[in-house]
Amino acid sequence: MDRISDGRREATEIRLRAYPPDILREEDFELHRAPVPRSLEAGELLLANSWLSLDASARLRMRESDSPYMPRITLGGPISGFALGRVLSSRRSGFAEGDLVLHSSGWRTHAVIRADETGWRGPHRIVEEPGMSEAAYLTALGPAGLTAYVGMVKLLDPRPGDVIFVSAAGGGIGSLAVQLAKIAGARVVASAGSAEKRDLVLGLGADVALDRRVPDLSAALRTAAPGGIHGYFDCVGGPELEAAIDNARPGARIVMCGTVSNYDTQSGSLPRNLFAIVAKELSVKGYLTRSYAELLPTVQAEMAKLVRDGRLRDRVTILKGIDSVPRAFVSLFRGEHVGKLLIQL
Ligand SMILES: NC(=O)c1ccc[n+]([C@@H]2O[C@H](COP(=O)([O-])OP(=O)(O)OC[C@H]3O[C@@H](n4cnc5c(N)ncnc54)[C@H](OP(=O)(O)O)[C@@H]3O)[C@@H](O)[C@H]2O)c1
Repeated sequence: MDRISDGRREATEIRLRAYPPDILREEDFELHRAPVPRSLEAGELLLANSWLSLDASARLRMRESDSPYMPRITLGGPISGFALGRVLSSRRSGFAEGDLVLHSSGWRTHAVIRADETGWRGPHRIVEEPGMSEAAYLTALGPAGLTAYVGMVKLLDPRPGDVIFVSAAGGGIGSLAVQLAKIAGARVVASAGSAEKRDLVLGLGADVALDRRVPDLSAALRTAAPGGIHGYFDCVGGPELEAAIDNARPGARIVMCGTVSNYDTQSGSLPRNLFAIVAKELSVKGYLTRSYAELLPTVQAEMAKLVRDGRLRDRVTILKGIDSVPRAFVSLFRGEHVGKLLIQL
């Protein structure tokens, strides 16, 4: 074992007290403080986290039973999630003190990455692109960027003139997906739950921004796209998916990235028009970003170029300090933040 000497004495991590049966509350979390680890085994890394990404899908793992997506979060242990950290000490080849690392031991100030942790969830040493902010490696140049790129560019693959509908368009992934669809030459109809987010997506190039809270979203989409939509990038499920199916042109493509409308409550509505998928011969494709992990370096370079050329903008809401995590995560399901929700430590 190597001894580590650094000035920090205390690490803080967020734990889940119990599996919330329905709507998540701040009180469902607790802060746990412990000494910063002082030694590492062979193959391990000690990181001081600088940025945490709060991702809606973590809610799916705060349930009694394992989700098909990932195992449930262990009570009394730290919560996992994407983060960026600097190496304080390394016993893993390819990582040196001071390196910036993307990994999945977030929701804590310090992380020990075990020797057996590899693959999509990291650790990945970041080769920093000139002119990019550190936080961009969690957004456009990170997991959110890869998710938007795979869903919009690789799977939905809009053609010039196509009408593409994007839901949760004021969120981290949706706001990138809107811009990628515009870059491909599509006409974009976006939906979001607040005036601030609708202004944001119009500013990012969307042609129409719908209020997802209107009583008849399907009618609103019909007015915005009278000839129907060629494609739908779904982050929400529920009413947005139903409206998309209603308004899909024959043979349209639906790419399902997430169904955030039922992560917190599990009682979100299901589309009532599923037969239209058959009748209109729609194709519906779900995907997991981790299945496309090998594309990360290519997408990073491509997104960096788009950012540098002024063709792609990252929108983030930044809250500071580990103590802000519980409130911030709960607010995510009330749609209170704009863009990707990040915590700066
Ligand atoms: N397939 C994959 O591998 C993969 C990977 C990462 C993320 N995802 C999925 O991508 C989606 C977006 O993630 P993100 O990181 O971009 O999230 P985000 O930045 O936190 O944005 C989430 C958005 O969801 C909307 N929202 C929240 N509760 C809602 C509800 N009940 N009904 C409708 N909209 C609601 C909010 O906008 P409003 O103002 O409209 O409420 C918010 O802007 C999620 O479904 C996530 O699970 C999938």
